[in-house]
Amino acid sequence: MTSDALKRQAAARALDYVRPGMRLGLGTGSTARHFVELLGERVRAGLDVIGVPTSEATEADARRVGVPLTTLEETPRLDLTVDGADEVGPDLALIKGGGGALLREKIVASASAHMVVIADESKLVRTLGAFPLPIEIVPFGMGATALAIGEALERLGLPAKLNTRMRSDGHAFVTDGGHRIVDAHVGLIPDPHALAQALVAIPGVVEHGLFLRLAGTAIIAGPSGIRVIERHSGS
Ligand code: A5P
Repeated sequence: MTSDALKRQAAARALDYVRPGMRLGLGTGSTARHFVELLGERVRAGLDVIGVPTSEATEADARRVGVPLTTLEETPRLDLTVDGADEVGPDLALIKGGGGALLREKIVASASAHMVVIADESKLVRTLGAFPLPIEIVPFGMGATALAIGEALERLGLPAKLNTRMRSDGHAFVTDGGHRIVDAHVGLIPDPHALAQALVAIPGVVEHGLFLRLAGTAIIAGPSGIRVIERHSGS
């Protein structure tokens, strides 16, 4: 089975968490896109839900498949967010932002009573960090901000290899919020909470891709079936 087929299976299982009348956060990425498509099928069959997209790409997908949309201005509290991840670690700590939507994804997940992360088995890791950590920064003073990020990583004993994310056409990648992304190749992250704290303290850092204590449930699809992992509250 292809990884795309596994992503779709995880997305399909997430529909079990959706109830009529729910206000939903709609994630970004190839796995979340499957969820939006499958949700669209249910909506066209009569399911009454409303969604807040986490990116312009997801907004376009949701409109295409007929999922009614709202904003966090109109609907500041959501019932459930379903989103993908780049890595799923212990306690359902996540690395997200491979698609560059981490800021809106984190705002939407934080506004939700529950977050379900959907992924194929390749995303499940014992320790976060093999995937480069996306860090969203404002364009002003990028050099100084990158230097401060590097120093913070060194203080934590982590390697500080930083790459400014580029598009395939050679231009800088710009997020939906008009920011830039620095991908930090930090290797394994023994203490994600300490790293998260150090990064948010840097002026110029808008957000980082560590999602800690946000996901409550992970639906992981592998060749031998689907695993549902729950986070114990407090962890
Ligand atoms: C988008 O910014 C990301 O956080 C995605 O959720 C993450 O990169 C997973 O994407 P895939 O589902 O495409 O692997």
